Amino acid sequence: MRAIIAEKNGGAEVLKVRDVPKPTPGIGEVLVRVKAAAVNPFDAQVRRGDYAAFMPTPHKMGVDVSGTVAAVGEGVDTLAVGDDVFYSTRVLSNEGGYADYHVEQARLIAKKPADLSFVDAAALPIAAGTAWVCLIERGRLKAGDRVLIHGASGGVGLFAVQIGRLAGAQVVATGRNDAHELVRSLGADTTVDYRDVDAWDQLAACSGGGYDVILDLVGGDTIQKSLSLLASGGRIVSIVDQPDPQSLYEGWGVNAEIHLVFLTPDADRLARLGSLTARGLLKPVVERTLPLEQAGDAHRLIEAGGRQGKIVLVTS
Ligand SMILES: NC(=O)c1ccc[n+]([C@@H]2O[C@H](COP(=O)([O-])OP(=O)(O)OC[C@H]3O[C@@H](n4cnc5c(N)ncnc54)[C@H](OP(=O)(O)O)[C@@H]3O)[C@@H](O)[C@H]2O)c1
Repeated sequence: MRAIIAEKNGGAEVLKVRDVPKPTPGIGEVLVRVKAAAVNPFDAQVRRGDYAAFMPTPHKMGVDVSGTVAAVGEGVDTLAVGDDVFYSTRVLSNEGGYADYHVEQARLIAKKPADLSFVDAAALPIAAGTAWVCLIERGRLKAGDRVLIHGASGGVGLFAVQIGRLAGAQVVATGRNDAHELVRSLGADTTVDYRDVDAWDQLAACSGGGYDVILDLVGGDTIQKSLSLLASGGRIVSIVDQPDPQSLYEGWGVNAEIHLVFLTPDADRLARLGSLTARGLLKPVVERTLPLEQAGDAHRLIEAGGRQGKIVLVTS
């Protein structure tokens, strides 16, 4: 079978199509015939070597998968051969979604609703899952709240905007202005171009006395700069590495909560997101699909910026 392998750490050119043996499911595992695999910024970070301590080369790529169960291992009674499924793999330990087949633990896998395409299903697990954890599970967003989403035009952000709207919140979103129409069409009430010299003043002006939840999908000094925009008891939720120290001083006065999120897979959460999508309440935005062999091109697109939606690899 074909698998995309990062033979060493480096640019997109290190990704090679290789012929490797088809894996066999062990106890509690299933073999999935992969139909589609979404490409995430995380994949490019892994390829570049940001996680080289955990993933020595050569290594397989890809954490977002949809496909059809081709074989089940001993002890699996929740899935059967022929079931259409989607999931995210165990991160930093079981990558390999960019391939014709992949093996994963059955407990992490959700059944794909019939009304959901394989491409849309592959776009959900990491991006929609992260947005859901950040806003609903950690941010405790509720109707009438005001939420600020930094990085709303990206893979996670486009789902976050929709989840904010679904929760009944007022959504303020940042992104470059070419993406504002899309972001508004998905549910943002207000959009701000983060490149404007007065972008932070604009965000303060529409904070309505303070944001209940602020989502940081961007990093840098976003947490530090956002603290003064929080309502009393407000939550900042960040999913991005924080390599540089930030001052949290402004957070004391408002009893701020700061949450750092690293997504862990959960089949029940995925099934819920699949159901919302199949019912038309969430809409995956897929900018482009590419054949599996063009994984390198997909990584170049991911790293170029200016995207509006997910890039998804398809196996046939
Ligand atoms: N911790 C976790 O569990 C977890 C899970 C998923 C993702 N992540 C990480 O979270 C980050 C976002 O993921 P993603 O999939 O949404 O990435 P993405 O698709 O690349 O989106 C990032 C978005 O942020 C925008 N952006 C860049 N700088 C900005 C700024 N200063 N203000 C506002 N927006 C800005 C980009 O717009 P432009 O096109 O203008 O550059 C892009 O639309 C990545 O670093 C990813 O690795 C972490």
